[in-house]
Amino acid sequence: MDWTGQRVLVTGGAGFLGANLCHALAARGAKVTALDGFLFGGGANPTNLEGAAVELVRADIREVDLRPLCEGSSVIFNLAAQTSHMGGQRDPLADIAVNAVAQVRLIQAAREAAPDAVVVHASTRQFYGKPNYLPVDEAHPVAPPDANGVSKFAGEQYWMIEHRTAGRPVVSLRLTNCYGPRLRIRDARQAFLGIWLRCVLEGRPFEVWGGDQLRDMTYVDDVTDAFLRAASTPACYGNIYNIGGPPPASLLEIAVIMQHLVPGTEFVTREFPADRKTIDIGSYHANDHAFRAASGWQPLVGLEEGIRRSLDWYRPRLAAYL
Ligand SMILES: NC(=O)c1ccc[n+]([C@@H]2O[C@H](COP(=O)([O-])OP(=O)(O)OC[C@H]3O[C@@H](n4cnc5c(N)ncnc54)[C@H](O)[C@@H]3O)[C@@H](O)[C@H]2O)c1
Repeated sequence: MDWTGQRVLVTGGAGFLGANLCHALAARGAKVTALDGFLFGGGANPTNLEGAAVELVRADIREVDLRPLCEGSSVIFNLAAQTSHMGGQRDPLADIAVNAVAQVRLIQAAREAAPDAVVVHASTRQFYGKPNYLPVDEAHPVAPPDANGVSKFAGEQYWMIEHRTAGRPVVSLRLTNCYGPRLRIRDARQAFLGIWLRCVLEGRPFEVWGGDQLRDMTYVDDVTDAFLRAASTPACYGNIYNIGGPPPASLLEIAVIMQHLVPGTEFVTREFPADRKTIDIGSYHANDHAFRAASGWQPLVGLEEGIRRSLDWYRPRLAAYL
């Protein structure tokens, strides 16, 4: 797709994945509106959009009139979400208000204001639950391990209904663990790797919970590429796809990569905290062949290279992310 002059709405645009997408779209000449409510505990950070020619609208998708924001959009990248699993457990009503109810608000607004817009929805591997088999394909049963998994599944399904009933071109991407520049690293709310990166950069030991779990971490540039390809590949419309990463590695292997990249790095292994153990999904890696075949996508950034790039990116910017 030639993005020059295309009007694009990115919900969750000041967050980790949304901001990276905004930078890529603006660099390609798109007219980007980033909608973000800067929710407490999420990945929104004003620094995330620095240097990108993007209009930032600070507003909450649960309340704002979404029609003017959708108006004229040829693509809506829908990334706004309550993303904390523990947060969803603590307050499932707030979780479902963003991840499901507000999705229906956006669907209704887009129906009126941008009936032809392509929608790429950020979904998650989380609601497959503890995998019955690996790698997990899209036919794997859905068994959400927590409230956040339920609300994210509901949100995705409302969008797929919109495709089936109204003919809207919708693509849902079920993402695995993503990492890279602009990830929230202040604490472990967003991803285990966030707090690991912080500790390594501060010269402190980090904690590995368990250690044997496999993850196929996707570097953010590969995630951005997946979103852009999903929007611009009509063969993808109406489909749900898993997005994976390079070959999986265990948490312990990832920790050793950090040690290798920053000599002197230390970590300790410990049991999963009891409250997290109940919602832990164990090992996961995706079978994403369907998306690769449909779009030509493949992850290009290996784990060691991605972690190296992340560390290099944060070093001069650490203060803005703590
Ligand atoms: N990062 C990952 O590893 C990962 C994995 C699976 C799925 N996802 C999905 O990708 C999307 C983006 O995730 P992320 O990692 O960038 O998270 P993030 O927290 O960095 O970004 C989400 C953004 O949405 C905004 N937001 C939340 N509620 C809002 C509301 N009511 N109104 C307006 N804005 C609101 C937040 O302020 C935040 O900036 C989410 O839908 C998430 O479920 C991410």
